[in-house]
Amino acid sequence: MITFSEALSYIEHAIKGIHYPKQPQKLYEPIAYLLLLKGKKIRPALTLLSCNLFKQTIDEAINIALAWEIFHNFTLMHDDVMDNADIRRGQPSVHKKWDENTAILSGDAMLILAYKYLAKSPVHNQKELLDLFSTTAAEICEGQEYDMQFENRLDVKEEEYLNMIRLKTAVMLGASLKSGAIIGGAMEKDKNLLYDFGLNLGIAFQIQDDILDVYGDPSVFGKKIGGDILCNKKTYLLVNALNTKDEKEKKELLFWLQTGNNQKEKKILEVTSLYDRLLLKEKAHEKMEYYYRKSIRKLNKVNVPVEKKIVLMNLAKELMNRNS
Ligand code: IPE
Ligand code: IPE
Ligand code: MG
Ligand code: MG
Ligand code: MG
Repeated sequence: MITFSEALSYIEHAIKGIHYPKQPQKLYEPIAYLLLLKGKKIRPALTLLSCNLFKQTIDEAINIALAWEIFHNFTLMHDDVMDNADIRRGQPSVHKKWDENTAILSGDAMLILAYKYLAKSPVHNQKELLDLFSTTAAEICEGQEYDMQFENRLDVKEEEYLNMIRLKTAVMLGASLKSGAIIGGAMEKDKNLLYDFGLNLGIAFQIQDDILDVYGDPSVFGKKIGGDILCNKKTYLLVNALNTKDEKEKKELLFWLQTGNNQKEKKILEVTSLYDRLLLKEKAHEKMEYYYRKSIRKLNKVNVPVEKKIVLMNLAKELMNRNS
């Protein structure tokens, strides 16, 4: 079995080996820039580790693993425009370092690059992988659309929120794992269990991301703390804050949601303090734990010896304790 850090080295080496056309520089430079910033690379790692559950050699999985990482980075390039986020992985996001049009077009080129790597997968797996990849990519667009729409609503239900994060975030973790299992030659049942492991882990992962956006350590988080608060993003915290029965707190929250934008730092401070008073960080943690435990139950059911699953088990656990 390979370790997580072996999987990472393999992926980093493959990313460094990506060849870009020389011209036009302004199209390709931002792609290399974003891919070489320090991301966690969990999606391609999940693909390789999942493949390794069923097969000793993981070489055939590296192209689809790269496709996921490139696709993920493409979503981030566009997401930062949509979320008006100036910092990514501790550095200026592409639309800040260059401009918005560059982020749009380099993002498009990145999506195409992802498909190029997908097409290098073993021929006998291609139809299944292509279906999985395209379905997942479309779902992510759906999730991002809900995410945008919800910014303008005050009545988002927890169920709607959970569906939105399932689409924008969780399906890619599920599909990354499933694609590795496909290349590994797993049985249908195990492929789907790995998908469900990733799906539930992904929901926990996004709730964690929502928590970190408010409570993360600015020196390591790599994104601006309070970014979600500034755009009225319907995170787990905000959806639940809007449910408060306390009329005074609710009124204060609505004030900040409607009029806060000329006092950005104060808005972040006041909304965070309201989350504190309503104990929403704790509530979010419980929800995150719930989905994390559910994910582990799915992994436990995968029909391979338990020793082989330890790497994925530990990775899932570490993700729940991450700070970036
Ligand atoms: C960020 O994903 C987008 C979310 C789904 C929350 P990651 O937290 O995996 O970002 P990187 O790739 O490690 O920077
Ligand atoms: C991530 O959502 C979902 C996608 C990028 C598809 P976020 O908007 O929460 O991700 P971050 O926090 O900017 O990384
Ligand atoms: Mg977003
Ligand atoms: Mg964002
Ligand atoms: Mg976020």
